[in-house]
Amino acid sequence: MSENPLVLVTGGSGFLAIWVIVQLFNQGYRVRTTVRKLTRVNDIKKCLCEANITEEQISSLEVVQADLLKDAGWAEAVKDVTYDLHLASPFPAELPKHEDDLINPARDGTIRVLRAARNSGCVTRVVMTSSFAAVGYGHPEERFKPDASPFIEKDWTNISSGNVPPYQKSKTLAELAAWEFMETECMDSKLELAVINPVSIYGPALGKDDGTSLRAIGELLEGNSPGVPKLCWGIVDVRDCADMHLRAMTNPRAKDERFLCIGEGSLWMEEISNILKKSLGSKAKKVPTTVLPNFLVRGLAVFLPVARLILTDLGHNKRVSNTKAKEILGWQWKYTSEQAVVASATSITKFGAVKV
Ligand SMILES: NC(=O)c1ccc[n+]([C@@H]2O[C@H](COP(=O)([O-])OP(=O)(O)OC[C@H]3O[C@@H](n4cnc5c(N)ncnc54)[C@H](OP(=O)(O)O)[C@@H]3O)[C@@H](O)[C@H]2O)c1
Repeated sequence: MSENPLVLVTGGSGFLAIWVIVQLFNQGYRVRTTVRKLTRVNDIKKCLCEANITEEQISSLEVVQADLLKDAGWAEAVKDVTYDLHLASPFPAELPKHEDDLINPARDGTIRVLRAARNSGCVTRVVMTSSFAAVGYGHPEERFKPDASPFIEKDWTNISSGNVPPYQKSKTLAELAAWEFMETECMDSKLELAVINPVSIYGPALGKDDGTSLRAIGELLEGNSPGVPKLCWGIVDVRDCADMHLRAMTNPRAKDERFLCIGEGSLWMEEISNILKKSLGSKAKKVPTTVLPNFLVRGLAVFLPVARLILTDLGHNKRVSNTKAKEILGWQWKYTSEQAVVASATSITKFGAVKV
């Protein structure tokens, strides 16, 4: 009897990657993952245990050490692999010292992963986790009006506009490099590429290491700001996002396609604050609900570098379409935005990742 396919998940210590691994095990795949530091392996195993993955499956998890900035490890990581889900990419909560600190690992690391997959001769498809960051930035102001048409997969972030922040740049350049690599260096190979472009991912963390997207919820719960800026995020639950990755991995129609990944819709930060207040009771006592005017946030950004990260998003409600994923992948979100936010907050308080 032939064994179930082996799937590689790059960056297994990440918030989304853990849920992808959980769903792969639940669907009977064999799983290998990469980590930068082997000390992270125990954390990954604890998270899998938290998600009720069996001890037998947890001990079957294969781990290879590989850094996106180095060649070492990637050939070993793809050996005997059928599908390669490339999630690893720097996603920091702070501004980097230099944008290349994000761009180099994101772009060059993606090429390392694709080259290793192509050279392996066994990997049939790479599913790359890009982002809405590679879709919805650097556009003219009219694109952000409430009556503008929603963003679709044909839209690309325009990095030459001059106001695209470093993380958004890193994701755009990495995805562009991936498609170019497929076009120029994979003509005679059986390797295929599909790309997922998620909006902000919320939902339950499986351990204390909550990742950057949940940090925003943590900051609210800790009351680290006197108010909330006029920011609006498209939201998808991490479990729905992982589900889309698995569908894009095997659906023949996903080849050469990118898929926007958004669930029910978007929430303003003020709405997120109100949801936390309503659902978490005393644990949300420090959550601010005063809305900060844009001029104040712009002023703060002069002194607070981290505030500069959000300036391009102030006041914008970017509508995003999930029609393509529904039609081609048969995907449907299961968790509302509110459920995703509450699950994030509940899990990070449970694991003690925030001081409330
Ligand atoms: N969370 C969101 O809202 C969101 C939205 C859209 C797209 N995405 C994308 O989804 C993917 C996963 O995001 P996430 O939220 O799960 O982020 P995360 O929790 O911060 O995970 C990022 C992963 O990338 C790894 N990584 C970073 N730099 C690396 C390097 N130089 N070499 C090897 N591995 C490296 C990290 O490893 P360490 O543990 O060693 O740091 C970690 O495993 C990323 O590609 C991100 O851009 C996330």
